[in-house]
Amino acid sequence: MSAPELVTVTVDDVEVQVPRSTGLVEAALAAGIEIPVFCYEPRLGPPVGACRMCLCDVEGMPKPQTACTMTAQDGMIVRTALTSPKAADAQNATLEFILVNHPLDCPVCDKGGECPLQDLTFRYGPGNTRMTFPKRTFEKPIPISPTIALDRERCILCYRCTRFSESVSEDTQLVALNRGAQSVIATFEDEPYRGAFSGNVIELCPVGALTSTQYRFEARPWEIQNVPTVCGMCPVGCNISATTREGKLKRILSRNHPEVDEGWLCDKGRFAFSHLDAPDRVREPLHRARRALSWDAALDRAEQLLRDAGTHIVTALSGSETVEQAYALGKLLRQGLGAHAAVMPEIENARLLDGFRLPLSAIRDADVVTVLGDEPVVERAPIVDLWLRAARRNGAEILYELDEDKVRGAERAILIWSGPDGEETLALHAQRLGVQGAFYLPRGPNARGVAEAWAAAADVEEAENPEPIKLLVISGDEALANTDVCALAEQAETVLAISMFSAPARGVADLVLPATSYLERDGTYVNLEGRVQRLRRAVIPPAPDELAWISMLAARFGVELSPYTASVFDELSALIYDGIPFGAVGEHAPLHTRSAPSEPAAPPQRERVEQGRGLRLVAYRPLFSGAAVERVPELQFQRPAPEVELAHADARKLGVAGGDEVEIRSNGTSARLRARVSRTLAAGTVRAADEHVRGLAPYVEVTKA
Ligand code: SF4
Ligand code: SF4
Ligand code: FES
Repeated sequence: MSAPELVTVTVDDVEVQVPRSTGLVEAALAAGIEIPVFCYEPRLGPPVGACRMCLCDVEGMPKPQTACTMTAQDGMIVRTALTSPKAADAQNATLEFILVNHPLDCPVCDKGGECPLQDLTFRYGPGNTRMTFPKRTFEKPIPISPTIALDRERCILCYRCTRFSESVSEDTQLVALNRGAQSVIATFEDEPYRGAFSGNVIELCPVGALTSTQYRFEARPWEIQNVPTVCGMCPVGCNISATTREGKLKRILSRNHPEVDEGWLCDKGRFAFSHLDAPDRVREPLHRARRALSWDAALDRAEQLLRDAGTHIVTALSGSETVEQAYALGKLLRQGLGAHAAVMPEIENARLLDGFRLPLSAIRDADVVTVLGDEPVVERAPIVDLWLRAARRNGAEILYELDEDKVRGAERAILIWSGPDGEETLALHAQRLGVQGAFYLPRGPNARGVAEAWAAAADVEEAENPEPIKLLVISGDEALANTDVCALAEQAETVLAISMFSAPARGVADLVLPATSYLERDGTYVNLEGRVQRLRRAVIPPAPDELAWISMLAARFGVELSPYTASVFDELSALIYDGIPFGAVGEHAPLHTRSAPSEPAAPPQRERVEQGRGLRLVAYRPLFSGAAVERVPELQFQRPAPEVELAHADARKLGVAGGDEVEIRSNGTSARLRARVSRTLAAGTVRAADEHVRGLAPYVEVTKA
């Protein structure tokens, strides 16, 4: 690639060279000068010049110009409010105008102390006000949704929120109503703002107009700590700051990793943290998920269950364990007991895609992205959906069926598999077509790390399930909710569950040991790119960390295992992460390249499509479901609508239009759902959230109700 052409710009007498077309705000920054902004936010697309806060004096132009809408040109001479009275006057007037109706209720405003308007008013604003009239007021707060409140009188009409809704998440639900001084932000027809990414507008709002209902009046900025960690709700692994006050978790904010999340979070990652305080949280070991046991009694019982079962143990992993926990469990069960049967969280061979590693941000710059698998990307790995939208806006072609010619002809082709059991097929396609990158979206947030750590714990192949299964070890609430694991629990003589909540384990587990959340752990997670990222404990868990008691149990079986995360990581890192020390994982973890395993991916088993049996039903786990979401009242409105998606061709054949009610039948079971017609779904397939099609077999008949 040739080096970009440089231009010379002078800002407040400081000369800098920047690449041509650099924004003037960035050019000034390169010269060490800050131009204040409100509406400018490059992640939202082209600038709109709405707030006028960035007015500057540009030589040769008679009136002050908005720096955010200009790009650096060779020889440009710019003066900011620091050196130009004209720019200072313009900026003062702008701030005075913005504050005409702004309530200045900073002492009671949730944004107070971390508010750009407050900060810039202090730094650039007039010393006092000439405003003697009463300010405009509105009914407040206006519920935008159960998670977002709007204090309309604080809005400065920067349009950041509406631009996010229109140009980033593309849900177009937030709009500006009316014109001129009467303009207000509202949702379309006052419906709640429903969408996977709505909470981002809270962080984007440069004033306290859009606030989180969970965080309102909960803390002031000087009372809080922000712990840098990563989200553990899906395999994207967005970088987050967990805000705590007096040892309690209060909110989750983004901590922009430009290669992973670009500073966006989905609403599950942002709002579902309050599940930590659920009433049925397991805080001590439980006998049959009901009667509390002392830790000594619980470890004695666990040891007895393990000794009695010997190698007749199956372990069901959820993929939400840390790398260190999975390795520790593996050492205890595989090395200590020789129990090699496991149900893995949708990843069999974590190394298959190592040769196709790319940062997620590469999706945005691709020419052709092919999405395979049956499940909606947004339900499995929400931020990947935003990268796909960004790619489409950038001119990429997004395909939902493999077109080999297009993929081969593209300079930058990427494959994505969204659904279970696709790892091998994806690796094979990637090798065959020589694509640049391939992403498999597993269900578990750390599925890739768990699979590799579990495998590293013993140098022995996985075994088939033993007969009989004397003990089933279920690790994590996601595994407890898995229908295959539930079927194994029916067969197993005894069940040991490691669970955060008691209700799902009731009637299933003989012994329940408390699990911690990703927000309560130290350790590492590996996201779907293969990036090893650091989890930091934001709050103290109500029970000892899993590593503490796994190491105690391991000692009873003569297995040496440290109870300290750093030591376990270092031991494992020597085996699989080229010896990177724990301390070097870093706050913005890089993506290390890795060569592909020498053996090629095995040809996938072709799924037999049974002709004449109706339409194939894909029942997917929705994003807003699962043990954590179920325990967060504010997220219930996001649960999936009772809808079924039909392919366009099938809908035409059946005479069904979007919004029609349809009946889905199989094996004497039926469900009535609203039809949604999809242009990306393959013909012959119907798709619905699993909770709406329980009991329906893989092939169904669909008729208009
Ligand atoms: S609500 Fe906030 S983000 Fe939206 S236009 Fe008003 S000030 Fe800007
Ligand atoms: S996209 Fe995934 S990792 Fe990111 S905030 Fe949402 S659940 Fe968490
Ligand atoms: S930041 Fe330039 S007009 Fe708003």
